[in-house]
Amino acid sequence: MKKKSNNTQLIRHGNLRSNFNETSESLFLTSGFIYKSAEEAELCFKEKKKKFMYSRFGNPTIEMFQRKLAKIEGAESCWATSTGMAAVFAIFMSQLNTGDRIVSSKALFGSCQYIITKLLPKYGIEVILVDGKNIDAWKKELKKKTKLVFFETPSNPCLELIDIKEVSKIAHKNGAKVIVDNVFATPILQKPIALGADIVMYSATKHIDGQGRVLGGAILGKKKFCDEIIKPFIRNTGPSISPFNAWILLKSLETLELRINQQVKNAQKVVKFLQGHKKIKKVLYPWSKEFPQYKLAKKQMLSGGSIISFELKNQSKMQTFKFLNKLEMINISNNLGDTKSLITHPSTTTHSRLSKSEKTELGISRNLVRLSVGLECSEDIINDIEKGLR
Ligand SMILES: Cc1ncc(COP(=O)(O)O)c(C=O)c1O
Repeated sequence: MKKKSNNTQLIRHGNLRSNFNETSESLFLTSGFIYKSAEEAELCFKEKKKKFMYSRFGNPTIEMFQRKLAKIEGAESCWATSTGMAAVFAIFMSQLNTGDRIVSSKALFGSCQYIITKLLPKYGIEVILVDGKNIDAWKKELKKKTKLVFFETPSNPCLELIDIKEVSKIAHKNGAKVIVDNVFATPILQKPIALGADIVMYSATKHIDGQGRVLGGAILGKKKFCDEIIKPFIRNTGPSISPFNAWILLKSLETLELRINQQVKNAQKVVKFLQGHKKIKKVLYPWSKEFPQYKLAKKQMLSGGSIISFELKNQSKMQTFKFLNKLEMINISNNLGDTKSLITHPSTTTHSRLSKSEKTELGISRNLVRLSVGLECSEDIINDIEKGLR
């Protein structure tokens, strides 16, 4: 049978209808579910009967969100979490033991960096950070027994790419599992599991909601991994998503591909404008020919995405702040993936915890800004940037 398109799957796959035959998916805003008898409750707790019992570990609205996201990702299974960071933390803490080793790329979102470099070592987990762009660095570090490999591609904020296929091959040869933070690319533009990764995580707060309303996260992978490792961890520690948030995200998935495609079209126009502007020093966008990893971007991404980072020609923080403060439509916000265009100064916000030398190494300069291109008319976005630059 011909494979259904993304749009059709996002709208039609995984829906559960109640007895009322509603068209729009229902919000089951309930913490628990009733058993027909004490015997039924006993059977459910013994896992001899499957039914929704308690929303910390199962709810029809959450289930619909998980089914849809797994389908679009091409994963066997999905578990939703309260935030993207809850997903990252659950992935690590459910699998790592004292004495284990993890190898991660250096270019990470600030909170991921906090978990990896500050929390994991407290529990006797060895952490190695590598330059993710350098395949030889992965080869060298993965010679030693390693449990998990973690990276973000494209990375926040400089959009550094990591070759998912190559790194997965190296990791698997040495028995390590590969986790990819696919937040910037979205399940529409990059398929880490098809490229060889074992686990994918999302901050659903970003493009999946895409309208700046709720927090959410997701963990995707093999059914056995989700059932045997993630499910008991979430069931017993409780980083669960609320049914209300899952309902918002579920309805947002219906328009995910449409929104992403339009945001990418807008981003491409903004990139063109920025590249020709005399006050811009450098534009980072994976599908731009000038991007240092353009070839890899073309190989593993379906387009360049909706995030652009760029450096202003001036070198000072003050001048960069002045540009941000002069914007009239684009909002200053550390969120991204929204219908509204949002801009941030990573050096003093999302990545402010990094040391000066870490920022320099990762290219997070005082004159770098990260723009998340929204769904407004591209001309209006460009006019606002032009005014700010003037
Ligand atoms: C790349 C990346 N990973 C993870 C997260 C964390 O997601 P959340 O804010 O939903 O916890 C973010 C949030 O900005 C992010 O940008």
